[in-house]
Parts: sequence; structure tokens; C-alpha cells
Amino acid sequence: MTETSRLLIVHGPNLNLLGTREPGIYGTATLDDVNDLCRAAAAQRGFEVDAVQSNHEGDLVDAIQAARGTAEGIVINPAAYTHTSVAVADALAAVGLPVVEVHMSNVHAREPFRRHSYVSPHAAAVIAGAGPSGYRFAVEHLTALLRD
Ligand code: DQA
Repeated sequence: MTETSRLLIVHGPNLNLLGTREPGIYGTATLDDVNDLCRAAAAQRGFEVDAVQSNHEGDLVDAIQAARGTAEGIVINPAAYTHTSVAVADALAAVGLPVVEVHMSNVHAREPFRRHSYVSPHAAAVIAGAGPSGYRFAVEHLTALLRD
């Protein structure tokens, strides 16, 4: 572990609208609620959290690159970029930190294009369909990986 004991939580496009965006699929928890949940789960394991959300692919790449040296691991919901972004996947590979991929919805029970993820090959674990709790599971798993 580094001295910082920090995790980076990365939220992709449209996740700023959580709470009002297609609540039948994504529920009513807001992005702040999700980040609070991550902070609480991380704090129980002695970690602090930095959270970033962007609707722009390059901003996500920048945030992932900046995690090298500032975070020990990454929880990422790349949202739509899951299914399209070689750049986000390459950034995760480049920094080489442990990654847990999260999706609020069960992407495997939706449209076929959501079944493919460029990110999953770089993830230690993928959690899909557990709603906001998926972020808690992701933080718990990531901190266990880092501690054990
Ligand atoms: C999502 C699933 C993606 O397919 C979608 O584009 C999102 C959110 C999820 O959390 O379920 O924006 O990553």
C-alpha cells in the first residue's frame, strides 16, 4: 500500500443524472448518494475516496492517468464508454492499478450491444445489476484485494 490509502471512483457519461435518469433502470439514488456510499465503505477499510464524473472521454482518460501515484485502485462505471472506448481501456491498462468495473443495471439482460465491455479485460471483478450496492461491493472487493 502507498501512504495515501486512496481509491479513485470514476463515473462515466450521464451518471451525473442518476436519480432522475430512467429511474426504472437506474433507480433513484443520486451520484452524491453513490459517492457517499463509496466513502462510507472505503472508510470502514481505512481508505479515502476521490470521485470524478465526466461526460467526456478524454477527461476520463486524464483522471485515470492521474490516479497513478495518487490512488491504489480504481472503481469505474464507464457507462456508455464501456461499450465503445479503447481509450479508457488503454488508460486502465497503462496505469496498471487494480480495477473493479461496476454497472448499476444488469447489462447482460439489456440490449446486445451492452454485453461487450472494452474495460472488463482490465478488471479484477465486474459487478452488474446490483444498483448502488454494486459500488459498495466494488469498494469492499477492491480494498480486500489491496489488503490481502
Ligand atoms: C451502465 C450501463 C451502460 O450500458 C450504460 O450506457 C450506462 C450505465 C450501468 O451503470 O448500468 O450509462 O454502465
